[in-house]
Formats: sequence, C-alpha cells, structure tokens
Amino acid sequence: MDFRTIIEPFRIHAVEPVLMTTPERRHQAVCEAGYNLFFLQSQDVLIDLLTDSGTGAMSNEQWAALQRGDESYAGSPSWSRFREAVQELFPFSHVIPTHQGRAAEKILFTALCGSGQVIPNNTHFDTTRANIEATGAEAVDLPCIEARDAATLHPFKGDIDVERLEALLHDRAGAVPAVMITVTNNSGGGQPVSLANLRTASEVCKRHDVPLFLDACRFAENAWFIREREEGQTQRSVRDIVREMASLADGMTMSAKKDGLANIGGWLALNDADLAQRCRNLLILTEGFPTYGGLAGRDLEAIAQGLHEVVEHDYLRYRIRATAYLGDALAELGIPTVRPTGGHAVYIDAGALLPQIPPLQYPGQALAVALYEVGGVRGCEIGSVMFGRHPNGSEKPAAMELVRLAIPRRTYTQSHIDYVIEVCAAVARNAAALRGYRIVDEPPALRHFTARFEPLP
Ligand code: F0G
Repeated sequence: MDFRTIIEPFRIHAVEPVLMTTPERRHQAVCEAGYNLFFLQSQDVLIDLLTDSGTGAMSNEQWAALQRGDESYAGSPSWSRFREAVQELFPFSHVIPTHQGRAAEKILFTALCGSGQVIPNNTHFDTTRANIEATGAEAVDLPCIEARDAATLHPFKGDIDVERLEALLHDRAGAVPAVMITVTNNSGGGQPVSLANLRTASEVCKRHDVPLFLDACRFAENAWFIREREEGQTQRSVRDIVREMASLADGMTMSAKKDGLANIGGWLALNDADLAQRCRNLLILTEGFPTYGGLAGRDLEAIAQGLHEVVEHDYLRYRIRATAYLGDALAELGIPTVRPTGGHAVYIDAGALLPQIPPLQYPGQALAVALYEVGGVRGCEIGSVMFGRHPNGSEKPAAMELVRLAIPRRTYTQSHIDYVIEVCAAVARNAAALRGYRIVDEPPALRHFTARFEPLP
C-alpha cells in the first residue's frame, strides 16, 4: 500500500529549541542587520533555510563515531577510516582532507591555474568562481539550454552544454587546465546531471587531454535522481551509480557539509600523482598535515560514518521527496519556482514573482527579507546580489533572480515545512506591494555575505 505521508526515516533523539519571535522583533532585527540576512542572529530565525551546508543533524552513530576520534597528529586510524570511506565511493588514488569545500578549491586552483586560463563548469558555485578568479583565471558557466528557463520541465537541467564545452576546449586549446561539473548544480537550482552527460563530457575532456573534476558536494542526491529518472538505472544501487560518476572523472572537490552529513569538512581527491603532491605542499601551508588537513580526528570519523549513511536508499527517498513536497506546494499556490524541484532546495523565481522590481534593485533580496519579516523564515538570495558584480567592478544582472530555500538534512519535520508553505503564501499574496533595495556598502568580492542594503522608497 502506498501511503502519502512522508515518514522521516529517523526519530528524534535530542531536541534543539527554536525561539518564537514577533513580526516587530524581526523587523527591528533585519533593519539592524542592514537587510542582509547573513547578519541576523540565528536565535532570531524560526526556520533557517539559509543553507543546507553544515546545518544538518548527525545520527546517533555519527555522535558515537566522534568518540572514536583519534587525535594523533600523523597517521591516526581516524584518517584511515575517513580515506577508506571516501575511496569506497570515489576510488581516486589520492585523498587530501580539507576543513571544507572551498579550501579544496583554493588548493586545486592555486596548483592548476593562473591568468589567461579558463575553467568551465555547468555553473560555478560562488566560492568556486571566486577561487578561480583569485588566481587571475576566468570562470565560465556552460549550463545546458534547458537550464536557462526556470519553468521548463527537464529531468537533468544540471547537464553541462557539451557542444559549447567542446567549442571552448577547441578555441582556447592549451588554456583550459581543467573542466569542472557540479553535481547537483547548486547555483542552477539544485538540478541533477545525468550519467549520459557525464559520460559525454568525460569523452570530450579525454579527447582534448584535459582533466575533468567533479564538484561533488551533493553527489548522493544527484545519484538518486539518476536512479529515479535515467533510463536503465532504476535497479542500480546509489553506491554503484556514485562509483560510476567517479570513474568518469579525474578528481573531485567536496564539501562534507552537504552529502557528507557532517557539520564541517571536505576533501580534494585525484589520480594525478604529481598534481596531488603539489596540492599536499599547499595543504601544509594553510590546512595541516596530509592525514588530517584542518580537521580533528573526530570530524574525520563523523564524515566516514556520514558517507555510509548518505547513500542509503530510505534516506535519499525521504530527502528528495521532502524537498519536492515544498516545491510542489509552492507550485500549487502559483508561486513560480525552478522546476522540477532540485535535491536540496526549492528556488523561488523572485524575478517572475516581483516583476515590478528591476534586477539591479534585487528582487531576490526583497523576497528574502519579506519571508523573514513575515514568518521568520531565512532563505538566501541567489541572483544579482550574489552574481551581479564582476571582478572589474562593473554590475550587470545575473541570469536569474532566485531565492533559495535550502533544506538542512534530517533537521526539520513536515510540520515545519507546512509552516514555511503558509509563510510563502502570505508573502506571495502581498507581492505587488514589495519594493526593491539599493546597496549602501559592499566588499569587492563575494558581496552577498557582508553587503548592507537600504529599502527603496
Ligand atoms: N561547491 C558547491 C556546489 C557548494 O554548494 C559549496 C557550498 C561549495 C562548493 C563550497 O563548500 O561551503 O564547504 O566551502 N555551498 C554552501 C551553500 C555554502 O550554501 O550552498 P564549503
């Protein structure tokens, strides 16, 4: 019998209170924060959907694993367990632990690229782009055509545009030190990449003798979509699909704060021994010795256990259905979102919901602030605030104006999400009255974290 209710495949073992706040308190808090939700105190947030990164709940087995953490400086058994868990899914020859994903990116791109070079990706995440640009190289996004329209239904909107990739590798031959593919495509709506696309991209890269790296933060969610949506995949285990994804690449960067089910951690893994050695040399400068790389032994243990849990089918079935539950409810309310719903988040199309606000008056920011003021729900703008400013200081609209409601793993129940749906409905009813913002203070890069805003009259 098929029951409709999404049963969370866990029961609650320790509780963490969330504090109720009033609209007046939230109005005051967001003014004080310069209308930047990153500046809020988290106690002032009722349902925190700012990110799914490092905000999930660990399992009892992960908490138990923390106790096994061996804090030896070098050669700890926690390191061996971590490396084995990583290599069981991603059999790359070299595994280099880092404190989080961006540290792996920083090391990889510092070792690989510099000015005059270019790194293509389906869509670079903000830290990936910033780490590439910090070396003087160029970060190019090549999403597939279907990804450009939020409303189009397509099973694999995360695919990279292989034709444009091939053209770029041809036109800029010798200037592309690596190609990246982000699974799932976070900045493009949490949309998955198909195995077929990975296979073709892998062949193209091989033909041009350029290594392919996965930005694998949400690899398990991507593999579940492959199992559900791609022809011939439904009988396979997610573990097996993940191994095939890895076999098509030459290396990966990873944030264990996503599909590592941990609160911190990451790694860089690759096959090229020479490049790995250069990366380890950089690792020692900023992260630590190659058997811990900026992580405590207990963190290595939590990640190793998390990697066993994240590929379990019951977990992934619940995870993907729970996200779709929010996406489908918003669609039924007529709230425009990126369709179909991605793996870790629902992305509201603020540009379509608030047509009266031009892109450079930041409709996504206006919507994110309204969701917070009305219901204490914290989302994250992914639009012209995040991507509108370029390294030369110029400003132009991002491809889409989105607000991401990212769902922390194993943290909120269906009734929390029902509340979020009610808050979205209330904000949407009042959408025509919302106004834009202007930036009054911003740093030169990654401005969304620290910019301050003022509402326009
Ligand atoms: N790549 C992708 C696709 C990401 O989503 C992130 C982080 C990173 C790399 C960097 O990893 O945070 O461990 O340094 N994304 C978070 C988010 C911050 O909210 O989407 P990190």
